[in-house]
Amino acid sequence: MLNIPSENYTSTTIYNDDVQKIFANSWQLVCPVSRLAKRGDYYATEISGLKVFVIKTKKGIRAFRNVCRHRGARLLPEGCGTSSTIRCPYHQWVWGEGGELLNVPWWGQDPDFEPKDWKLDEIFLKTWRGLLFLSIQPEANFDLEYGDLIEELQNDPIEDYNWTQEEKLVFDANWKVYTDNFVEGYHIPGVHPAFHKAIDFDKFETTALNGHVRMTAPPRDGLFYKGKWLWMWPNWTLSLFEGGMNTSRINPINTGKTELIYNFYFRSTSDNTKKQRDKIISDNLNVIREDFEVCIETQKNYESGAYRPGPLSPRHEQGVAYFQSRLLESNAK
Ligand code: FES
Ligand SMILES: [Fe+2]
Repeated sequence: MLNIPSENYTSTTIYNDDVQKIFANSWQLVCPVSRLAKRGDYYATEISGLKVFVIKTKKGIRAFRNVCRHRGARLLPEGCGTSSTIRCPYHQWVWGEGGELLNVPWWGQDPDFEPKDWKLDEIFLKTWRGLLFLSIQPEANFDLEYGDLIEELQNDPIEDYNWTQEEKLVFDANWKVYTDNFVEGYHIPGVHPAFHKAIDFDKFETTALNGHVRMTAPPRDGLFYKGKWLWMWPNWTLSLFEGGMNTSRINPINTGKTELIYNFYFRSTSDNTKKQRDKIISDNLNVIREDFEVCIETQKNYESGAYRPGPLSPRHEQGVAYFQSRLLESNAK
């Protein structure tokens, strides 16, 4: 099996296809349900540039495109907040929490104008084990897409872990360069020397399953990871700690720029475990940052046209082969 050609990481045409054929119709991890605790709480974000928000309403959580139905302005600022209605900052149209248009100021006489024709565009939502996912146009049923994952995590009490913080990291490489890197442990000796010492690397195992890739290695004493790292098609990850976990979403910004949205969760959020939690988070972010340089330099080589596809290791790059086979399937649509 060969690595895919470099144009997959550099072409804007392929990137635009990724947005429409992968990101607009897959399930995207947005945030933990606990961040939308009371009515009016919202979380606005982007999925490969597609603006969306989720909001807690009287009838539960709803999800919409963050796009004004008038002339397309962004409705809610990115991030978290609380608002009982959604007011466009441009010409002040106002919608209710259910997406119904409530007020159109200074409009003028217009017998043809019907507010009910201009509801916000609602999108699909799924909550699963305390995590909130959305999809603009889901192609697969969530439970079918992640059937094996549900079994994979059945003994881990992930909904008992409390969300503590979100961290965003941005770097200059295509989202697929980073994903190729995430789904293999082959680079651990070269790129993460301290992490390498903290696991039994000879026992590192990578398994591609239906909709996800599982990587495991026995941790040695003192490592914050529990020894299990999961990546889910197309772009979210979950790694277990002792008494906690992180999740991430690998979010493309453009052909050569990607953001990682990391969230950290712990069973104990008491003051006396704060120091320990902060240390886990900072050690974890350091390991994550160690990957950026190889990704950035690989991206440059792909952009220069100097790279011809090389072979993938059957032992260590099964996850890369699986990810790339899903990409090719999506491209063929
Ligand atoms: S673009 Fe939103 S009110 Fe005009
Ligand atoms: Fe890495």
